[in-house]
Amino acid sequence: MAKNKTAYVCNECGQDFPRWQGQCSACQEWNTITEVRLGPPIAGKASSFSGYAGQGSNEVKTLNQIDLDALPRIASSFKELDRVLGGGIVPGSAILIGGHPGAGKSTLLLQTLCQLAESMPALYVTGEESLQQVAMRANRLGLPMANLKMLSETSVEQICQIAMQEKPKVIVVDSIQVMHISEVQSSPGSVSQVRESASYLTRFAKQNGIAVIMVGHVTKDGSLAGPKVLEHCIDCSVMFEGDSDSRYRTLRSHKNRFGAINELGVFAMTERGLKEVANPSAIFLSRADEDASGSVVMVVWEGTRPLLVELQVLVDSSAMPNPRRVAVGMDANRLAMLLAVMHRHGGLMMADQDVFVNVVGGVKVTDTSADLTLLLAMVSSFRGDVLARDLVVFGEVGLSGEIRPVPNGQERIMEAAKHGFKRAIVPLANVPKKIPSGMEIIGVGKLNQALEAL
Ligand code: TYD
Ligand code: MG
Repeated sequence: MAKNKTAYVCNECGQDFPRWQGQCSACQEWNTITEVRLGPPIAGKASSFSGYAGQGSNEVKTLNQIDLDALPRIASSFKELDRVLGGGIVPGSAILIGGHPGAGKSTLLLQTLCQLAESMPALYVTGEESLQQVAMRANRLGLPMANLKMLSETSVEQICQIAMQEKPKVIVVDSIQVMHISEVQSSPGSVSQVRESASYLTRFAKQNGIAVIMVGHVTKDGSLAGPKVLEHCIDCSVMFEGDSDSRYRTLRSHKNRFGAINELGVFAMTERGLKEVANPSAIFLSRADEDASGSVVMVVWEGTRPLLVELQVLVDSSAMPNPRRVAVGMDANRLAMLLAVMHRHGGLMMADQDVFVNVVGGVKVTDTSADLTLLLAMVSSFRGDVLARDLVVFGEVGLSGEIRPVPNGQERIMEAAKHGFKRAIVPLANVPKKIPSGMEIIGVGKLNQALEAL
């Protein structure tokens, strides 16, 4: 019999300590450290392999001897979800779906599991809603209800025990914040409970080859269960983003051991549940009929595909001694840097102007290819010039005013051509050899060339 170990964990930040102390020396909070008794390892095949059960053998192999086809994928009913997960759900993986309350996590997973249950055993564990509530929702959405197994339970040990009998291929645990383990003394939702519950479920997933999908609510500052205590033990972490008052939701992977990160999936919340958006560029481009200054379309790269998004900038003379710089959907530091580049190399002084930047549709842009778009939109708003509707702009701007090439230039231009754009201002090195017919490509190497091209 393995000896039970004891650990001391801070409820605020999740830091481990060898003994109890009054103040956490990591986050300086008082009285947050609780005792956690780590139970003996759970029954089942011992394996520490992060893939799926059955592959962890003791043999030493060279890389090329490893069977690459051995990582099977379960296709969920949503293609967008599969893409974000890197091609489907990997058996035995632990997946975390995070998001604000009301984002639609329960709806997404209920729809997915009802469809999956048609072809394989699946279990939906709800700790938040009653079984009637879930059944009513499934009924209203017209989902197939005959095969999905439901369980209302919040004890992680019980869930794993029942799952051992039911032998599902996929389990959804909604949500990790209400789950508890008898060994941990703090209340459900505290950092140590969430951490231990998640790592228990992750071990269970790996040892039994069952994919476990956990739902996690994010706190006000956008992190999962306080600090990122969960992210290192699970295999994939995806965030479901979007305000409950907007129609569109985006699904983005932040960590994925089985695929690319920052892959974006787009859904629309309708009265019949979530629907996939196959052509997201179309929705982020829904522009007003009237032309306005300060609006330019950019082509950002999201994971493995291009996305056309409208960028709006408003430059207005400021009444305050410290003009405001506000960026929604973009990094404010990047905006400050680009304003300096504009002053120094573009000759436009905006020190007495308020600058507001908004990425339409609630997308968050981290791609540096938006630099040039932002600068040109700023100039357009500053001068009050309306830019042509069929113009797209992308390119990274360096501190010395040079326009740097960005990856996947050809694909970006093709995407713009597909949506009927006729002119593109792009970095010189991104001008493709074969220009799409009917399109005019203007390659620029310096900021002043771009301003001339406007
Ligand atoms: P839910 O899946 O319960 O959110 P979460 O589990 O992430 O907290 O989704 C709730 C929201 O979705 C709620 O604001 C209502 C909306 N909704 C629809 O608009 N249409 C629908 O068909 C459903 C099921 C929900
Ligand atoms: Mg929910």
